[in-house]
Amino acid sequence: MTSPIERIVYRSDAVALTDGPVDVSPILSTSLRNNARHRLTGALALQGGTFVQVLEGDPEALTGLMETIEADDRHRNLRVLARWPVQVQLFMGWAMVHVDTRALSPHQSRLLTQTGSGAQVTSVLADLASARLGSVARLSSVV
Ligand SMILES: Cc1cc2nc3c(=O)[nH]c(=O)nc-3n(C[C@H](O)[C@H](O)[C@H](O)COP(=O)(O)O)c2cc1C
Repeated sequence: MTSPIERIVYRSDAVALTDGPVDVSPILSTSLRNNARHRLTGALALQGGTFVQVLEGDPEALTGLMETIEADDRHRNLRVLARWPVQVQLFMGWAMVHVDTRALSPHQSRLLTQTGSGAQVTSVLADLASARLGSVARLSSVV
């Protein structure tokens, strides 16, 4: 029997720095280090001042990390869109992939930052992440 895994998706509002936009790189390097240690995987995008993140892995590790992330003053107003059990880690191999949002269509952008459900946001981020890596197979389902 394999241990249960869960996926969580949230949005939050980036807190702008006095000297410019939020710098995602320190968040990414911390995430790579910590998430790999806990076998957590996921994706992070920053689009128009909104952070969107998918995280997946061991439920207890997820809960602990979410408490830490929620207390981070680089963002506020964190809204969890969904949290659900899954069979596989879609972002397997990526302790945290930074999704480049420059090529987003207006529809994808709206899904990510405003209207999308947890599953829709996951799907958009997985598509963008796989496009970025080129050779990764298209992911047709996020369930
Ligand atoms: C939008 C956002 C996403 C984050 N995602 C992660 C993450 O996936 N993993 C992680 O360890 N820290 C993440 N962080 C950083 C944590 O809030 C916290 O600063 C970090 O885990 C502290 O790690 P340290 O104790 O190793 O310095 C994120 C922060 C923000 C603002």
